[in-house]
Amino acid sequence: MEIPDTDYFRKVFLKYTKKAFELLGKINKPKILDVGCGTGLPTIELAYLSKGEVFGMDVDQSALEKFEIKIKNQGLKNRVKAINASFLSNNFTSESFDIIWAEGVFQIIGYDKSFKESHRLLKMGGHLVMADTLKSIKPKVNSLLKHGFELYNQVNWMENAWWIDYYQPLEKMLKNLRDAKIDPRLYEHLTKHEEEISMIKKNPKEFDCAHYLLRKIKN
Ligand SMILES: C[S@@+](CC[C@H](N)C(=O)[O-])C[C@H]1O[C@@H](n2cnc3c(N)ncnc32)[C@H](O)[C@@H]1O
Repeated sequence: MEIPDTDYFRKVFLKYTKKAFELLGKINKPKILDVGCGTGLPTIELAYLSKGEVFGMDVDQSALEKFEIKIKNQGLKNRVKAINASFLSNNFTSESFDIIWAEGVFQIIGYDKSFKESHRLLKMGGHLVMADTLKSIKPKVNSLLKHGFELYNQVNWMENAWWIDYYQPLEKMLKNLRDAKIDPRLYEHLTKHEEEISMIKKNPKEFDCAHYLLRKIKN
C-alpha cells in the first residue's frame, strides 16, 4: 500500500487558491510573495496560474527542502525561489511586489504585524490574498483601512471543508494502514496529526475558512 504525504490531502484546497487568483483580474507576469509557503503547494500553483516570478518564504527548512525538489523537478528554477526567512525580518525592498499571498500563516504571525509588513512590500494597488479561518479573520476586517487596505472580494470554502476534504480522508487512510498492519514508523508523518483529527472532528465549523482579497489603497 502506498503511503501518501500530507500534500496528498492538502492539494484538494488548491481549487480555492485558483478561484481567488482568478478574481484578481489580469496582471502581466506579476511578482508574487507567498508567505509561509510550507512545502510550496500554493506557491507552485501560483507560478502556473500567473506565469510570473514567485517567491515562497518560510522559516521551516525541512518544508523548504521539499519545495525546492518540486521547483527543480518541474523546471521552474528560473522563476520560483524558496527563501528561508521570517516574514517579519526579510530583505525585500519596499513596494516590490504585485501580490502577497498568505495561506494559514497570518494567524500564526499575528495580523497587525503581517498587515504592516504586507503594506510595506506591496506596490500601490497591489493585492494581499490571505486564507485563514473565518473566526480569526472576521474580527480584523474593520481595521483594514487603518492598515491601508480595502477588502474587495472573498472566496468562501465549502462548509466543514477541513473535516470533509482533509481530516476525514486522513483518518480513513490511517485506519487502512493499521488494518494492513503496515509498520507504524513508516507513517509517523501522518499519525502526528491525530490530535488535530479529533479536534476538528468535534467541531468542524469552527475551522471554516475563506480567501480574503485585499487591495492596498493608501499609504
Ligand atoms: C499552516 S502552515 C501553511 C503552509 C502553506 N501556506 C499551506 O497553506 O499549505 C503555516 C506555515 O507558516 C510558516 N511560518 C510560521 N511563522 C512564519 C514566519 N514568521 N515567516 C514565514 N513563515 C512562517 C510555518 O513554518 C508553516 O510552514
